[in-house]
Amino acid sequence: MHYDDIKIAPSILAADFTKLGDEVTQAQDAGADMIHIDVMDGRFVPNITMGPLVVEAVKRAVTIPLDVHLMIVEPEKYIQTFADAGADSITVHIEACPHLHRVLWQIRETGCNVGVAINPHTPPETLAEILNLVDIINVMTVNPGFGGQSFIQRMTSKIATLRAMVSKEQLDIDIEVDGGINDKTISSAVQSGANLMVVGSSIFGHPKGIQAGFDDLHKTLQNELE
Ligand code: DX5
Ligand code: ZN
Repeated sequence: MHYDDIKIAPSILAADFTKLGDEVTQAQDAGADMIHIDVMDGRFVPNITMGPLVVEAVKRAVTIPLDVHLMIVEPEKYIQTFADAGADSITVHIEACPHLHRVLWQIRETGCNVGVAINPHTPPETLAEILNLVDIINVMTVNPGFGGQSFIQRMTSKIATLRAMVSKEQLDIDIEVDGGINDKTISSAVQSGANLMVVGSSIFGHPKGIQAGFDDLHKTLQNELE
């Protein structure tokens, strides 16, 4: 994969919420392809974060798409709310949806891009019957719930399997990786077949600032992919 084809979605979970508008504007100026927003309910995952109000606020601050990652039970109850708040893509977890096929259609009907996320313990083959319904597969490379965790290296084979499944059916699907992506792990994610990188702490938590976070990732991608 060429390095220009890699998209970066900074996750505001690691942003400074006292100046959220500023932070997402800086990320956009630094070349973010979209803004990733982690919605957690304290039930599907052991943490509570943000809801539609934050999506609405970020929408007013940037023009790039908003990638909303729902880590909540019964996501079907809130899909329209997040679409109305300004989401451009909505991702639900396979583990939270006994009727995943129906929920993916529900997202499609809002006009948003459709995403499915898969926890580290869930095998890639569980997505086989719904592959044709999605625009994004989010392969969780940490257990969802918190930023700043370590990339689970074993997930690279899952990424490769999913990339092969997608290519075999000639589908146009972004394979997103989420959790522990930094200048040490980004290459193995890309080399195994991911093209959309969610990055929280290595961008918003970078000691030298947001632009430096992007520069480090781009440097690694340029050195290792060209
Ligand atoms: C984890 C979230 C991630 C998180 C990634 O549950 O889904 O999007 O923000 O953060 P880092 O990049 O710090 O691992
Ligand atoms: Zn996420």
